[in-house]
Amino acid sequence: MDKIVVQGGRRLEGRVAASGAKNAALPLIFATILTDKPCRLTSVPEVADIRTACRLLEMLGAKVERPAAGELIIDCSSVSEFEAPYDLVRTMRASFLTLGPLLARFGRACVSKPGGCAIGSRPIDIHLQGFLTMGARVENVGGYADVAAERLRGAHVILDKPSVGATENIVMAACLADGHTRVENAAREPEVVDLVDALVSMGAKINGAGSSVIEIEGVPALDGFDHRVMPDRIEVGTFLIAGAMTRGDIFVEHGRAEHLGSLIGALEASGSTVRADAKGLGVYTDTRPLAISVKTAPYPGFPTDLQAQLMALMTLANGTSRICETIFENRFMHVSELQRMGASIKLSGNTAEVEGRVTLKGAPVMATDLRASVCLVLAGLAAQDQTEVLRVYHLDRGYENLEGKLASLGARVSREPA
Ligand code: EPZ
Repeated sequence: MDKIVVQGGRRLEGRVAASGAKNAALPLIFATILTDKPCRLTSVPEVADIRTACRLLEMLGAKVERPAAGELIIDCSSVSEFEAPYDLVRTMRASFLTLGPLLARFGRACVSKPGGCAIGSRPIDIHLQGFLTMGARVENVGGYADVAAERLRGAHVILDKPSVGATENIVMAACLADGHTRVENAAREPEVVDLVDALVSMGAKINGAGSSVIEIEGVPALDGFDHRVMPDRIEVGTFLIAGAMTRGDIFVEHGRAEHLGSLIGALEASGSTVRADAKGLGVYTDTRPLAISVKTAPYPGFPTDLQAQLMALMTLANGTSRICETIFENRFMHVSELQRMGASIKLSGNTAEVEGRVTLKGAPVMATDLRASVCLVLAGLAAQDQTEVLRVYHLDRGYENLEGKLASLGARVSREPA
């Protein structure tokens, strides 16, 4: 088990390149189940969740080749297993995205229910309700969702919440269903759009991706795809916040302003200067941030996956900020660790009141989930002395070479055995 060691107080400067988006690559990897033709993915991030997803595909009988860094060639022509086991789904909830593709192509899927995780109970009722509406039979057997359908039929599916995973699962299933499917209250995240771009390149007939109504006309079969994963907007946002925390001047290549409008607004409201061009996004900050209030929301609202990172910035702000988490019920696990570094934060329900004007002090802190881990690394960048972030396996699930990228911007950060 490793730890990340950060010597605080260094100003970040320079350019860094974002990797491909983990949360786009995962559904894209599972979309390969929909076809018996080979699929090629490039700009795939080298992170633990991707390795887990590939391992799951191989357990189902797929062939996965890695001809070069960031490239996957996946062939699901020989898939003959339809069960995603508990130990894999437990470690990576996104494994549940195999259900729609397995059901659509083989009429059969038995996927362990993901169970909860550090940030919340993570139910799957919206996914299962969608498949029931499309004519599938769902049985709950020993913690598994056992789903079968001779032939999925197109249907009018209204999601109770704009769930990203449910939208992706149902859209993938609808690609091979009989007839027309209309998904209302669909998630609008860019990762959904990236998945649909690949599905359309396979021959799927889909309209409306990026809006809250997605229409799919089922087709008998799909081709393979050759697709480049979109840049990771959450990684881009994480670096922009890191730059602001150190009153630095950084540029993140591949960042897209249209993917991060709400973060850009928040950074500008807190006194940073953000610049955008065809190559990426930059941030320049030369003062203590101004206090702002933010509420997380489905895209295009402020992303819950940047909530912890923004809170780290607000611990330094000139005043009191309020951060309201509306997506997950337990996504403040980073608060107690930030408090150990001297942050002044009061929790009341799903709102954190962050009293700024403090000086953070380095300390050994514990990572609890992916975004809480990176929040603590960011706090270490701005803190006095040394911060050690333990249990960085959480971080390795979604950030590729974080310490190397931060060091290239001037941070004194290293990975050491814990
Ligand atoms: C995706 O998770 C992301 N993961 C999450 O990123 C992200 O935080 C989340 O979307 C929200 O943007 C991947 O894409 C792999 P949801 P997902 O279904 O699809 C409730 C990270 O750090 N809900 O949009 O699981 C749910 O409890 C991760 O990279 C139901 O009630 O999220 C939550 O409150 C963390 N029933 C809300 O909807 C359901 O059937 C949004 O969840 C499904 C979800």
